[in-house]
Amino acid sequence: MYNSKIIGLGSYVPDNIVTNDDLSKMMDTNDEWIQERTGIKERHWAVPGTGDTTSAMGVKAAKVAIERAGMDKNDIDFIIFATLSPDFYFPGPGVLVQKELDIKTIGALDVRNQCSGFVYAISVADQFIKTGMYKNILVIGAELHSHGLDKTTRGRGVTVIFGDGAGAVILSREENPDKGLLSTHLHAQGEHFKELSLVAPGMGQRWINDILKDNDPDDESYFPYMNGPFVFKNAIVRFTEVIMEGLQKNGLVKEDINLLIPHQANLRISQFVQKKFGLSDDRVFNNIMTYGNTTAASIPIALTQAWEQGKIKENDLVVLAAFGSGFTWGSVIIRW
Ligand code: COA
Repeated sequence: MYNSKIIGLGSYVPDNIVTNDDLSKMMDTNDEWIQERTGIKERHWAVPGTGDTTSAMGVKAAKVAIERAGMDKNDIDFIIFATLSPDFYFPGPGVLVQKELDIKTIGALDVRNQCSGFVYAISVADQFIKTGMYKNILVIGAELHSHGLDKTTRGRGVTVIFGDGAGAVILSREENPDKGLLSTHLHAQGEHFKELSLVAPGMGQRWINDILKDNDPDDESYFPYMNGPFVFKNAIVRFTEVIMEGLQKNGLVKEDINLLIPHQANLRISQFVQKKFGLSDDRVFNNIMTYGNTTAASIPIALTQAWEQGKIKENDLVVLAAFGSGFTWGSVIIRW
């Protein structure tokens, strides 16, 4: 058995910044409401036609990660891509990355676990490396939310929260059992699937021809739905539980955490978790203020930025934790 460790990180966000004031010109909202409830000041939204698709942003982040890993792209053995906003209904973006990077015919897997997507993806990659099946895996989380949001007052409870972007890591074999990913912890509770969902078009619900046939201007089924207060209540409980689970599994305590990188769901959620664990500001990394919630991309973007800013040092205990649609949630305990 081997461990896996992160040897390269990269991120990419579209240039176009959308402030809360910009949103207030599209819908009945305001900077004060958004900042008070979510901590978000602005987010990046791709401009249609500029080529910033989910897979293209993933490729840009991946190129940086590969270069920083100091490896040749053909040393990558496998690709895992997490997103809820793929370029196409099928095939998923993993194969598009393989094509765009012009890598030999390695496998490419798509992960559909929304805000927990990156945590699930890196956990899958870790298992492949642990067993010795693969040595180097490219793990990407990317989202293009902005093209699929309801930008009218009807959608304001959801739309103001989400941003576009991508993050990527190279996970590689580590011989030292005390280094790298120490453990990963995954959970789901499907009974709440409707509380944060986008139900159409779907084979089990309404397909495109039904939507076109009905041509109903009040149809909201193809926009994301979120029961905000319910999601909030569940998130703070599950974040706390799954971080504790990870610490306990490794015989660690909250004082051992050098840096917690929570999925950037909402600054108030991160602050609740920070308080619960008694962590000082320098031991929690947040960037939701300027990126919004980028779902599967949020942790790899934040991780990359924390590393770039020198906030992660050799031997640090880094904890990743996520919660989102499904509900799904998980954590990753890393000895850097
Ligand atoms: N601007 C202004 N007013 C808004 C608004 C917006 N963007 N969105 C909603 N409102 C209004 C609502 O219509 C409601 O008005 P009413 O009282 O007249 O009916 C009021 O604000 C309160 O709405 P509510 O949904 O109860 O607000 P909230 O305090 O729960 O905050 C969220 C909403 C979404 C910010 C909050 O529930 C939340 O952050 N939940 C978790 C979301 C999350 O993390 N999602 C990602 C999970 S991965």
